[in-house]
Amino acid sequence: MKTYKIAVIPGDGIGGEVMTEGIKVLDCYASLKGNIKFAYETFPWGCEYYLKTGKMMDDDGLEKLKKFDAILLGAVGFPNVPDHISLHGLLINIRQSFNQYINLRPVKLLPGAPCPLKGKGPQDIDFVVVRENVEGEYSGVGGIRFPDKPEEIALQTSVFTRKNTEKVMEYAFQLAEERNGKRKLTNVTKSNALNYSMVFWDKIFNETALKHQDIQTETIHVDAITMYFIQKPEAYDVLVASNLFGDIITDLGAALQGGLGFAASGNLNPEGEYPSMFEPVHGSAPVLAGKGVANPIAMVWTVKMMLDFLLKVEADEIITAVTQLLQEGESLTPDLGGTATTQEVGDAICGKLAKLIKA
Ligand code: NAD
Ligand code: IPM
Ligand code: MN
Repeated sequence: MKTYKIAVIPGDGIGGEVMTEGIKVLDCYASLKGNIKFAYETFPWGCEYYLKTGKMMDDDGLEKLKKFDAILLGAVGFPNVPDHISLHGLLINIRQSFNQYINLRPVKLLPGAPCPLKGKGPQDIDFVVVRENVEGEYSGVGGIRFPDKPEEIALQTSVFTRKNTEKVMEYAFQLAEERNGKRKLTNVTKSNALNYSMVFWDKIFNETALKHQDIQTETIHVDAITMYFIQKPEAYDVLVASNLFGDIITDLGAALQGGLGFAASGNLNPEGEYPSMFEPVHGSAPVLAGKGVANPIAMVWTVKMMLDFLLKVEADEIITAVTQLLQEGESLTPDLGGTATTQEVGDAICGKLAKLIKA
């Protein structure tokens, strides 16, 4: 039996609440399958930790995380610490230090999930965003000149390297080839205004396309994409986007699939040189924290993505279990019109899994 070592960072706000259910489902899955096991070590890093120690994570935190097969993260950020400190200190630090250059974000409407688009159903909303995850607009290059003076200037420079951009494009094309979809890759750009970074991005996209002529390609500006996601989500299969644009369009994607309570993601280092990190797209949702009402489905779906990545199998039973729950309409949290607690949803998913896997 193989034991996978998982580093668990529950983080802030609802992060810990949904993490408990994610791990519950992971353990249910493993014990039902019988041939895998997970060993967890939990790290108390986050905003509370920062207020006590002045650090978002230990100085040797990355060394500690390196020895794990994967990292599960709840959410980072709370109003008691400035967001740029908490996020750069933990989440963005891990993504960049572990060269998790792909952020994979599926947008899939499950049967029974509430879609805000009139006349659209699960057959129309099923695509994946490949988000560049270690550089671009998030490179952290810049500074403030003449602070607090009338001539104050803020600089924030995007950095796009050929090496990384080529790897991201290649990954996206290969995904479009492997996915049982439309064999289409949409390049999300803004090269009409960003005359260096996005012109370069488009150039690498077009160069990579030459090696994948079996894949249909298109290039669409990010502003237009937000409109088309609403008007014709069925047009998309795989999309590739820079760090910031990928961030923005995937919250919109989350809305299409029923809300942030459904959106999962994997921060991947595909070569396995460093551990990959799996986290829901949502944040710590301070308004919901401590109430036991957060929807754990995004975290459960995230766990499924980790299983797919580690075991190289599709842990589809987990999605089937969630779909059954949605279709029955019971055991749902308030964001889905129900009255169930976070914990009750986790229990109900395990109950469904038990029937599905034993059957
Ligand atoms: P958020 O995703 O935390 O919440 C926005 C809203 O979405 C919530 O008010 C809630 O209505 C809904 N929501 C989110 N998750 C939900 C869930 N599981 N179930 C039900 N409803 C849910 O975004 P925000 O309010 O912009 O950010 C709060 C904090 O989280 C900030 O500090 C932000 O920087 C941080 N953040 C962290 C991550 C991360 O760790 N990956 C992601 C996004 C935001
Ligand atoms: C996400 C989040 C983060 C991001 C923030 C909290 C830094 O919004 O994971 O989507 O922008 O990557
Ligand atoms: Mn985001």
